[in-house]
Amino acid sequence: MTSGTASQIAYLARVLKAPALRDSAERLAATARDAGWTHQEYLAACLEAEVATRGAHGAENRVRAAGFAARKTIEDFDFDHQRSVKRDHILHLATLDFITARTSVVLLGPPGTGKTMLATGLGIKACQAGHRVLFATAAAWTGRLTTAHRAGRIQQEITRLGRYPLLIIDEIGYIPFEPEAASLFFQLISARYETASVIVTSNKAFSGWGDIFGDDTVAAAMIDRLVHHADIFSLKGDSYRLKDRDLGRIPRPAATTPRDAQ
Ligand SMILES: Nc1ncnc2c1ncn2[C@@H]1O[C@H](COP(=O)(O)OP(=O)(O)OP(=O)(O)O)[C@@H](O)[C@H]1O
Ligand SMILES: [Mg+2]
Repeated sequence: MTSGTASQIAYLARVLKAPALRDSAERLAATARDAGWTHQEYLAACLEAEVATRGAHGAENRVRAAGFAARKTIEDFDFDHQRSVKRDHILHLATLDFITARTSVVLLGPPGTGKTMLATGLGIKACQAGHRVLFATAAAWTGRLTTAHRAGRIQQEITRLGRYPLLIIDEIGYIPFEPEAASLFFQLISARYETASVIVTSNKAFSGWGDIFGDDTVAAAMIDRLVHHADIFSLKGDSYRLKDRDLGRIPRPAATTPRDAQ
């Protein structure tokens, strides 16, 4: 490649905002010469380099925008430690068919059993596949919905959230909902029913949700919508956080026993 052509490509790539194309054009030209590529094959390889970089950047941006509490991946999940979830089942979810089908995932179980890690791992997979995702704790979602409600724009907010194919609601159960928050939450779940996916985690079995939401009727209607099209997991066992620590018996509230989380 002459230096004139190289600088023309650099200029055109800059105009097109295609830095990977600029960086790979010369390197790929050498490969093309050595391997005897056609002009079309060379052009395809250059464009592919740009598209791959954009895809990676897009995924990274989506992961950052999702607001995960930590970066945890399905690949790092130790299925030998957590035997109450089947690796194949999670790997199937990781194909993200559930997002296309607009169904949901519910992860129930005591503290430290991997609920947030699995929810995050699936969320990151979704970001990498091009889906927009938002992650927050139930308490943070409550704050967001309440702010929108008080500003008279709850409908707009729920519609805006509808543009996210996946919302993750972590930690339902640690903090009880005020009646207003419970009703807003119900509206969110109801709006997404059969239209978009949610992943929900809770340390409480469904039988304890009436107490969390302060209203058995609202809780029952919400559970009804959530479980109609959902993969539900009851994680069991001791906390992974305490796995190598000898702290004696940890208190476990009755409603969080694995048997209840059905
Ligand atoms: N099976 C596992 N393999 C690898 N790491 C795990 C596993 N289970 C849990 N962990 C790790 O242990 C810690 C606690 O897990 P996680 O946050 O997912 O628990 P949780 O079920 O959401 O608990 P909580 O109800 O307290 O929020 C995290 O650092 C997580 O990465
Ligand atoms: Mg958690």
